[in-house]
Amino acid sequence: MEKFECSTKIYTGCGALDALGHLQIRRLLVVTDPYFMKSGTANTVAQKAKAEKTEFFDGVKPDPSVELVAQGTNLVRQFQPDTIVALGGGSAMDCAKAMAYFGGGNPRLVAIPTTSGSGSEVTDFAILTHNRVKHPLIQENIRPSVAILDEDLLQALPAGLVADAGFDVLSHALEALVATHATGFTRALATEAFCVTFTHLKASFRGELSVRGKIHEAATMAGIAFSQAGLGVCHGLSHALGGAFHVPHGRLNAILLPAVVGCNQSTHLYGALARQVGLGGSTDTMAVRNLKNGLIRLRRELQLPGSLLEAGISRTQLIQHRQTLIDAALKDPCCKTNPVPVDAPFVTELLDAVSHG
Ligand SMILES: NC(=O)c1ccc[n+]([C@@H]2O[C@H](COP(=O)([O-])OP(=O)(O)OC[C@H]3O[C@@H](n4cnc5c(N)ncnc54)[C@H](O)[C@@H]3O)[C@@H](O)[C@H]2O)c1
Ligand SMILES: [Fe+2]
Repeated sequence: MEKFECSTKIYTGCGALDALGHLQIRRLLVVTDPYFMKSGTANTVAQKAKAEKTEFFDGVKPDPSVELVAQGTNLVRQFQPDTIVALGGGSAMDCAKAMAYFGGGNPRLVAIPTTSGSGSEVTDFAILTHNRVKHPLIQENIRPSVAILDEDLLQALPAGLVADAGFDVLSHALEALVATHATGFTRALATEAFCVTFTHLKASFRGELSVRGKIHEAATMAGIAFSQAGLGVCHGLSHALGGAFHVPHGRLNAILLPAVVGCNQSTHLYGALARQVGLGGSTDTMAVRNLKNGLIRLRRELQLPGSLLEAGISRTQLIQHRQTLIDAALKDPCCKTNPVPVDAPFVTELLDAVSHG
């Protein structure tokens, strides 16, 4: 038996923020980061929500820590919102999801992503960092009930953020496509998400605004796919590296993804996908090689690093943290749904392959 579920109501398109006005919010808590407080977007969100009372928690930092979530949870307990609106990238959404989970009172979660990457607006995941280790909190009741995909929020996205977050989408799609819990439904979403993102990411990076709405929807599709199908070793090791060295999550995925495609042996599905995006290949093996090379080419065009060394992690750091990284990756729940079993030699080989390029 297979199960597929997506309970999140999704509003999409320019002006989708107006949906906030229909939610009949009484006590609103907006969770965001200083950038959106300063830019006035957090206030715009509050105005559109028309709540009787509004509070802001605007201290979110990239890769939210357990300590930050504990601060936010106190505010949830004091203020007792009926609705928490998360405004920002994966970090703001994950922080808000964890605050709602630990704060109790069952507030409604509304997610407004401002990057096209994490898919957190529709997933059962919140990634929290503690003592330099990223811990995925995976619970059905942290999946937002409403997601608002308003492409107007993407106009000022810096190119670097488009690139990092875009490779997060590509990695969600490619890992979900072949993960052990994949179904026909998740594969359809993962395939569409990959094709749209792979085709348009370069234009978005160059500043072409007309494609950003498409990639925004693709990020959400990939989120639905992986939340149901699972992820794999790319995310397992990426979480370990992100916790230890605080390099942006999507950038680490960009470094790992071509190598993961090469070693996951999912030739038939990856081969078909390569042909679908025009990379060709007369046999599956050749098509997978083309997919791997296509990802490497795109990564270069988006000016992303090709190795951990290029991302600023030194040889000494890698040697010093080697065993901790391998242990953390093996413990990460994402590795459990990788299509081939993940053991210490597998992770070690992958880590070595991406260390120095
Ligand atoms: N919960 C999930 O399902 C899931 C999945 C993948 C990744 N994640 C997590 O999400 C986090 C990464 O999220 P992210 O890539 O969205 O980045 P982010 O949320 O960490 O944001 C990075 C920076 O971008 C800025 N920013 C965000 N939107 C902007 C905009 N529109 N314009 C200008 N600046 C903007 C933020 O202020 C922040 O400084 C990681 O912690 C990762 O582990 C979660
Ligand atoms: Fe991710």
